[in-house]
Amino acid sequence: MHQMLLLSLLLSQWSRSESLDPDYTVIVEPKPWSDAQAHCRRFYSDLASVRDMKDQRRLERVLDGITDVWIGLHRTSDQLKDRKWHWSEPTVTYKEADAQWGILEPDDYRGPQNCVVINLWNNWNDKSCSEKYDCFVCYNESSSSVQIHDDKGRSWLEAQQYCRRHHTDLMSGLDQQEQVEKVKPFGKSSCWIGLFRDTWAWSDESPSSFRNWNSDSAINPETEKCAAVGGDGGWKSSDCSRKKSFVCAGGNLVLVKQNKTWEEALIYCRQNHRDLVWNIDTEPWKTQVQDQVRRSDSKLVWVGLHYACFFEAWFWVNGHYVPDDHKDWRKPGEGDCGDVAAVKKNGQWVNRKFEEEHNFICVRSCGCCHGN
Ligand SMILES: *[C@@H]1O[C@H](CO)[C@@H](O)[C@H](O)[C@H]1NC(C)=O
Ligand SMILES: *[C@@H]1O[C@H](CO)[C@@H](O)[C@H](O)[C@H]1NC(C)=O
Repeated sequence: MHQMLLLSLLLSQWSRSESLDPDYTVIVEPKPWSDAQAHCRRFYSDLASVRDMKDQRRLERVLDGITDVWIGLHRTSDQLKDRKWHWSEPTVTYKEADAQWGILEPDDYRGPQNCVVINLWNNWNDKSCSEKYDCFVCYNESSSSVQIHDDKGRSWLEAQQYCRRHHTDLMSGLDQQEQVEKVKPFGKSSCWIGLFRDTWAWSDESPSSFRNWNSDSAINPETEKCAAVGGDGGWKSSDCSRKKSFVCAGGNLVLVKQNKTWEEALIYCRQNHRDLVWNIDTEPWKTQVQDQVRRSDSKLVWVGLHYACFFEAWFWVNGHYVPDDHKDWRKPGEGDCGDVAAVKKNGQWVNRKFEEEHNFICVRSCGCCHGN
C-alpha cells in the first residue's frame, strides 16, 4: 500500500504552485560581517537587503525569535561629503532637482545635521537627528493624505517610528509635500519630514533607502559600520568584526520546521514548492542544506532520497542514482524496501523508516534551480 502510494507520488508531475515564502535564510553559525557576506555570495545570492516594511515583517517571521543577526547594510564611508539624501518612504526617490532648501541650507550648523525639518515657508532645513521637535508630518497611504502631528518633543527617529506605526511613514517627496502646503498654516515653524542623509548602503547594491533603526545612537558611532537586527526587529549598528549569525537572500531551499513523515513531507513540498531536496552532495545545495539542518528543531531532517526495492538501489526524487558507498552515508551499503534518507546535524546521511516524523527541506519552484 505504502509502496504504491510512494510510487505514484514519485511519478506524479511536479506541482508548480509557489507560495510567497520569503527567500531569506538565517545562518546560525556566527561570522564577522565580511565573512558572512562571502558565505552568502558564494552559496546564496548576497547578504539580505530589507527594502520596505513588508520585507521587514517577512524577515521577522524568518528570524522567529533569533536576535542580533547581520543584514546586508554597511557604512561605506565616514566622510561627510559622501552622505546621500534619501526619503524615509523607500518607494520615493530623492531627486536633487526637487530640493527645496532654505537659503544657505543644508549647512551642518555646529556639526553634522542629517535629518530635515520643513519650515513655515515650506523650505527645508537640515537638523541634528537627535534634536526634539513637537511637530512632524506623517503620510497615510490608505487615505492618501498627510497628517501634521503636534504634541510632544520627538527626535526624527521617534517621529519616523510613530508615523510607521500609525500611518505609513514620515512625509516623503514633493507630491506629499504639496498637500502639506494646502493644510497650512500649521503654526509651528519646524516639523520633521522624511528626509535624511547617511553613508549606509546595501551589500547587493540595492538602491533602497529603507532603514529601521531602533535608536538615535545607532546612526552615529563611527566605529560601528555594519547593521544587525536586534530583538524588537529594530536595527542597530555594530562593530563589523564581531561574530554574529546572519541572513542571506536568494537561496532556493526552504526548511520546513514541522514534523512530518517522509511521504507527508514529499506531498507538502510538491504542493507548496517544487520537491523534497535532491542532489545535496553538490554545491551550492550541500552548504545550503548544512545551514538549514543546523536550524532545524528535529535531530534528523528528511531529504528526497529513497530506496527503490525493484532496483535495489538508492535514488534521488529526480531519478538520479546514488551509490551505496557514497561517502556521505554514515554506514554504507544498507538499504531495505521502503527506506528513505535523512540528514544528521553533522551532515551525514542515515537510512530511516518513512513513518518517522522529522523536519524537512523543500526546493522552491523557480527558474534558478540547479541539478534537475
Ligand atoms: C489612515 O487611513 C486609513 C484609511 O483611510 C484609516 O482607516 C486610518 O485610520 C488612517 N490612520 C490614521 C491614524 O488616521
Ligand atoms: C519536532 O520533533 C522534535 C523532536 O524530534 C521536537 O523537539 C520538536 O519540538 C518538534 N517540532 C515541532 C514543530 O513539533
